[in-house]
Amino acid sequence: MPDELVVPPPAEFAAQANVGADEYARAAADPQAWWAEQARRLQWDEPFTTVFDGSTLPTAQWFTGGKLNVAVNCVDRHVAAGRGDKVALHWEGEPGDSRTITYAQLQDEVCRLANALEELGVGHGDRVVLYLPVLPETIVTTMACARIGAVVSLVFGGFSAEALRFRVEDTGAKLLVCTDGQFRRGNAVAVKGAADAAVEGLDHVEHVLVLRRTGDLTPDVPWTPGRDVWWHELVDRQPAEHVAPSFDAENPLFIIYTSGTTGKPKGLVHTSGGYLTHTSWSHWAVFDVKDDDVYWCQADLAWVTAHSYEMYGPLSNGVTQVIYEGSPLTPHPGRHFEVIEKYGVTIYYTAPTLVRTFMKHGPELPAGFDLSSLRLLGSVGEAINPEAWLWLHRNVGGGRCPIVDTWWQSETGAAVVAPLPGVTPLKPGSGTVPLPGLSATVVDEAGNEVAPGEQGVLVITKPWPGMARTVWRDHARFVTSYWEPYAAQGFYLAGDAATKDADGYVWIGGRIDDVLNVSGHRLSSIELESALVSHPRVAEAAVVGAPDATTGQRIVAFVILRGDGSSEVAAELREHVAQQIGPVAKPRDVVVVPDLPKTRSGKIMRRLMADMTAGRGGGDVTSLQDETALSAVETAWAQYVQSR
Ligand code: PRX
Repeated sequence: MPDELVVPPPAEFAAQANVGADEYARAAADPQAWWAEQARRLQWDEPFTTVFDGSTLPTAQWFTGGKLNVAVNCVDRHVAAGRGDKVALHWEGEPGDSRTITYAQLQDEVCRLANALEELGVGHGDRVVLYLPVLPETIVTTMACARIGAVVSLVFGGFSAEALRFRVEDTGAKLLVCTDGQFRRGNAVAVKGAADAAVEGLDHVEHVLVLRRTGDLTPDVPWTPGRDVWWHELVDRQPAEHVAPSFDAENPLFIIYTSGTTGKPKGLVHTSGGYLTHTSWSHWAVFDVKDDDVYWCQADLAWVTAHSYEMYGPLSNGVTQVIYEGSPLTPHPGRHFEVIEKYGVTIYYTAPTLVRTFMKHGPELPAGFDLSSLRLLGSVGEAINPEAWLWLHRNVGGGRCPIVDTWWQSETGAAVVAPLPGVTPLKPGSGTVPLPGLSATVVDEAGNEVAPGEQGVLVITKPWPGMARTVWRDHARFVTSYWEPYAAQGFYLAGDAATKDADGYVWIGGRIDDVLNVSGHRLSSIELESALVSHPRVAEAAVVGAPDATTGQRIVAFVILRGDGSSEVAAELREHVAQQIGPVAKPRDVVVVPDLPKTRSGKIMRRLMADMTAGRGGGDVTSLQDETALSAVETAWAQYVQSR
């Protein structure tokens, strides 16, 4: 735990904050009544009769009896309240094109697309997969699905055809929505071919809806007549009126895939009333959003960060947002600061890996832009190292902006450990304390709270409204992954090591499972190893995360080659992994080894290799099958490091 620097909320900020100091106590006095109060911030078509129903745990049910439409909550009700002319989205394209969309226009677009989806035969409960960049249409589609009760699943545009196919197949999607091409770091790249490969032979996919984005830059779009439909031909002729039905609070809203400890990503299912309550309230409280704010969450829309804090949260609060299509460094490293200046962004939610990238360019980079509009900063994805925190605070926030470091996960739906910016004193590197209404702590293996400063694991001790309800088509995995380890106590196991200090502040350590965090992206060792061994030259592979000054962790792959091994395969294997999963999953280091350290039962001991790449020696080797395997890997690693 770093030596403590405590940064209290600036008095001016505290004086105007949405949430005051009594909120922790108010929530603690009666958490269910308090959550019911937050749920009433939403528009219910029928009021809920029960706040929380624990009879189906670990699948909790919240706000049962209640009916609502999530899209109406995010769009229509702001128009109905006379705020139709308010800007919902300032969209900035990577090549520099831009569009501004008001809430009234957003409502029209969502209604048109809802009508279009219904014309395509998509209805309540059907799954729709989106393979789209950050475009207004991505948000329109997400909202249109919510409006008609279809379950949406967004897939990162940088994922490969194989990764997309897995998700299309696993969801059993009826519709895939994609673009002709995407802009990636200044280049127009065709993607329709990848979309076609992903759906080939999958009979459940009835249509592929194609939005034109790169146009003439990616000509000759492959086309399957009858299945493929151009967005502009179908959607533009639809009426802008659509009657929104009401759905149960527990109606599934979206499926988000995330890496676990097996080769197969898990599709976490989030539902409507509880998720929107948690997301909407926490967005309002943690980001302190006001009517005149210009809020920017820089995540890609396919990540959970964007689901909660770039779509459902900010839209439900009627906020004006900036969304940006491109890479932060295209066409120059100051692009984000340029966008902040252009739109007068007041709240900027970013990621530690990006802050560290900016740091390499020095304080001159942000100093070249007028960032005086900023009043609050946010961080998510991994623990932010105090040095990056202080750099961000000083050089981007001008020393005046609180930084809300938000700890949460795809599973939690929304923030769990995070400060209230007008109330909670900040400690750089800690997400501070659990939010009102949320109970998280650090425990040992037996489930007992550990003493201050002692390592344990982070658990959430009581069900909360935004929690995932199940793993799509694999409820058993939901139970074993998160709930079995502390079944006796009913705790949710988050998978992060953590400590709590004497003030109750939570400090996140590494993952306790074989999950890597690379630039805030979650990847599993086994998923990466499966990708590697699917290459004909690889006999066995072990993947570990090594510490990296910019990306937090970097991927190191140890591979045993088939036949006569040459070490010239690195580039080929990196490309292969990019094809299997996506460029984010490319191993930075590929080390050819003659053998891998295993336990007597044949399990690869990744921990020993992770220790080695981190320069930590002396791990427990008692369960090792054959010590020479470890020394062979150590020798190969030493040679590799020397030759780098
Ligand atoms: O290890 C924690 C880390 O990211 C994991 C969740 O990843 P994902 O489901 O992809 O969601 C990321 C965005 C919410 C966590 O188990 N993590 C996320 N935010 C933080 C963090 N670690 C420390 N501090 C954070 N603020």
